[in-house]
Amino acid sequence: MTVLSIRGLKVYFSTEDGIVKAVNGVDLDIGENETLGLIGETGCGKTVLGLSILRLLSENTVVEGEILYRGMDLLKLSEEEMRKIRGKEIAMIFQNALTSMNPVLTVGTQVSEPFELHHGLRRRDALMKAIEMLKLVRISSPSERVKEYPHEFSGGMRQRAMIAMGLACEPSLIIADEPTTGLDVTIQAQVVELMKELTMRSRTSMLLITHDLGVAAELCDNIAVMYPGEIVEYANTVEIFKNPKHPYTQGFLDSLPGRGLKPMEGMSPSLINLPEGCKFHPRCPFALERCKREHPRMVEIGNNHQVRCFLYD
Ligand SMILES: Nc1ncnc2c1ncn2[C@@H]1O[C@H](COP(=O)(O)OP(=O)(O)O)[C@@H](O)[C@H]1O
Ligand code: SF4
Ligand SMILES: [Mg+2]
Repeated sequence: MTVLSIRGLKVYFSTEDGIVKAVNGVDLDIGENETLGLIGETGCGKTVLGLSILRLLSENTVVEGEILYRGMDLLKLSEEEMRKIRGKEIAMIFQNALTSMNPVLTVGTQVSEPFELHHGLRRRDALMKAIEMLKLVRISSPSERVKEYPHEFSGGMRQRAMIAMGLACEPSLIIADEPTTGLDVTIQAQVVELMKELTMRSRTSMLLITHDLGVAAELCDNIAVMYPGEIVEYANTVEIFKNPKHPYTQGFLDSLPGRGLKPMEGMSPSLINLPEGCKFHPRCPFALERCKREHPRMVEIGNNHQVRCFLYD
């Protein structure tokens, strides 16, 4: 059963410099209990894609296509209906816990809020639930810690508190946007372990946005590789790492420590002035004449492995 099915998603911002095509025709599916990794260089539209699912982008953003959550198009719901989805059905764990938590409310108030809002629990009972959640994410002395403010928590604790908030109402889908970025390596490993354990336990599906392939390899069942505004490769995690097909994916993997550390040539294109044809052609070592003019489609090459490249079409 598909939990989330995105079809032909486009997200455009109109700015003084022109139209920013942050998401430019994305199709994605996330199944029950599946963790899908969304990877790609900074600025390729990962966060915008995540935010568009929960409709957290500003009013003047143009969003087209379908975002089907259990068959229901989120783009067609009223704001009121959307509020019932956020946190309860679909939760988001943001990149930076310090800026995404409210500095003037205690951690307890923030973690208990979803229980009051979505389950109608009284304050006291909601706070008890919050303490349980903090315990689950291994924050010591949670009944004391709930009284503290976000700035009194360490970075790793705040990130774990964010995860507790995200998981509070046992959503069916979590969108985790770079949940471990900025944490030191040991804490990162703990957070990854924790997310693995908690999503398995509650059978939550997850869209994991990351540029950290180590984290992706650890947590994801399948991986979608994004190159400005579109998905260029999709396969299961083992396949992506062992057998990357798209020249961008190959370059991206080769640029990693332990795999050659060869920097990729060129820069990501501007989202205002995307190249014609294959968007990767100015950087691609294998570019053909047609790559400059025609836009490649996504091709299934077997074993549910898909590539957007003329070398396979
Ligand atoms: N509100 C906005 N108005 C204009 N451009 C935006 C807005 N939000 C994001 N962008 C642009 O969209 C592009 C994709 O951003 P983002 O999704 O944050 O990238 P990523 O998460 O992959 O690093 C960036 O070029 C960013 O500047
Ligand atoms: S379509 Fe052409 S330019 Fe694009 S990745 Fe494939 S070979 Fe390179
Ligand atoms: Mg981002």
